[in-house]
Amino acid sequence: MAEDLSVGVGTKSEQYESLIPQIQGLLTGEDDLVANLGNVAAALKEQFNWLWVGFYLVTSPDELLLGPFQGPVACTRIRKGRGVCGTSWLKEKTLIVPDVEKFPGHIACSSASKSEIVVPIIRNGKVIAVLDADSSEYDSFDSTDQHYLEKIITSISF
Ligand code: SME
Repeated sequence: MAEDLSVGVGTKSEQYESLIPQIQGLLTGEDDLVANLGNVAAALKEQFNWLWVGFYLVTSPDELLLGPFQGPVACTRIRKGRGVCGTSWLKEKTLIVPDVEKFPGHIACSSASKSEIVVPIIRNGKVIAVLDADSSEYDSFDSTDQHYLEKIITSISF
């Protein structure tokens, strides 16, 4: 497997279209979850240069635990229903937050974060993790990110 990511250019969709086969290549033949989540976070960070991107894992009935990520240090545990991540888990839906200061209960792991998207990862009808991306710019995420990030997480075996 090639170890260098080829960073795509063009529209956001074109960047995702170039990235997704490379992510699938990284995941093929490897079933270690930590390795795979680490590589997905690294590939997204390298392509989009977001402030923070990574995973929180459901490890108890009411709490998320920090998983593999790229970016500044982050809160280790998030209660169900708290912040954007805990709310995405509770509602079982993707949340796009154009301005984090306007999201009631947003958990500011970094003061540099301005906008955020959180995608729940659902297997057998239950949320087992969330993918979280934070940007240092307002309004960075839209339905294109939602579409492709929801596609990317289907490639990950849990
Ligand atoms: N902002 C998130 C917390 C996680 S950090 O952004 C990495 C939230 O409100 O759930």
